[in-house]
This record gives sequence, structure tokens and C-alpha cells, in this order.
Amino acid sequence: MTQSTNVTWHHGHVSAEDRRRVLGHGGAILWLTGLSGSGKSTVARLVEKKLVDRGVLAYVLDGDNVRHGLNGDLGFGEKDRTENIRRIAEVAKLMADAGVIVLTAFISPFRADRARARAIAVEGSFVEVHVATPLEECERRDPKGLYKKARAGEIKDFTGLDSPYEAPEAAEIVIGDDGASPERCADRLIALLEGRGLLGARTLAG
Ligand code: ADX
Repeated sequence: MTQSTNVTWHHGHVSAEDRRRVLGHGGAILWLTGLSGSGKSTVARLVEKKLVDRGVLAYVLDGDNVRHGLNGDLGFGEKDRTENIRRIAEVAKLMADAGVIVLTAFISPFRADRARARAIAVEGSFVEVHVATPLEECERRDPKGLYKKARAGEIKDFTGLDSPYEAPEAAEIVIGDDGASPERCADRLIALLEGRGLLGARTLAG
């Protein structure tokens, strides 16, 4: 697949430790996966806000936003979804390398694509979060009216209806399946990051 030959990776003069000194923490990737309307973006944005309020540099990469720009050329067929996730994984890796706590909020329906995203990331810095809100609840919420359109045949290949969602088998954490509020879910994710030592010392005081 790679078309780039005769290219060499260049290392700069700044180490991960140098960046850690600037930010007070290293980078990590919190990879949220789940159906459309499951609450991925809502929870990711809450975590982002809470972390930034505590002095931790966090940033959300969000499905709808990224598809406006970087991945605006991709649709929702299997091949395009795979390419969507591959590019996101590469971007997330670069951002994490820069020291950012990256939160990705993409359906990322295919197990193999998520496994590849994990493999691209630096070992120990990738946390898979299954936002396991049941399909019936996502469809009841239908925040963008897309389930309705898909049911009416106006959108095809809609995840959960006529395109598969392969639930994670070993996500680090499952949220959204117990009726907990987005706020509570966000706190659980932050506790997980903290427990893994991914937020650095600066934040321990909260
Ligand atoms: S992914 O499958 O490639 O990971 P991604 O998270 O980027 O999807 O985009 C999903 C968002 O695109 C949904 O939340 C929804 O707003 C919109 N969307 C438009 N068409 C579809 C479709 N056929 N299936 C799922 N989501 C769609």
C-alpha cells in the first residue's frame, strides 16, 4: 500500500523527556469506539474539558469534524472506513508523540482497524474505550436524525443497521451500558488514565 519510497525518518533535537518537562505529562491515545449516537463525542469532549481545566493538554479528534477536512474524500464503504481509521491512528500517534492526550471519537466499527490503530501507537499509551450504548438507545436518541433517514432508505451502509459494528472483545474499559451520566463516564476515563500514570504528576492534586 505504501507509495513512499526513498524517504527517511528524521529525528529532531527534542526528546520525549524534553516535551514531558514542558507539559508535565506525556502523550496517550484514548480510543473511543461505539455506534453513532452512543455518546462518544459527548464523553470525549467532557474529558477534554476536565483535563485542560487541570492543566493537561488534551484534544478531541471527532468523526464528523475530521470527515469535513482531512478525510473529506472518504465515504462509508468498508475500504473508506478502514482508510479513515488508518489516517486517524497516524494523526493521533503524531499528536501523542507531541505530548497531547488525544481522544478519538470515531465509530471505528472494525476490530482489525482498531487493532491496527493500537499497533501504530506507542506501546502502553493506547486505551480502547467501548461506548456500549445499545443500538435501540442510540436510535431512540437519534441526535442527527440519521437512523430515521437510514430506516427510510435515504442512507445506506449505516452502522448497526445495514453495516456491521464489531464490538471490542478486550477493551480496557466499557462505558455507556449502565445508564451512567456522561459526566460520570468522563470521570471514570480520567481515573483510568490517572491509574495508568498517563496524566503525569502535575495533575495528581486535581
Ligand atoms: S467510521 O465508521 O469511519 O469510524 P466516523 O466515526 O468517521 O465513522 O463517522 C461517523 C459519523 O458519520 C456518524 O456519527 C454520522 O454522523 C455520520 N454518518 C454518515 N453516514 C454514515 C453511515 N453510513 N454510517 C455511520 N455513520 C454515518
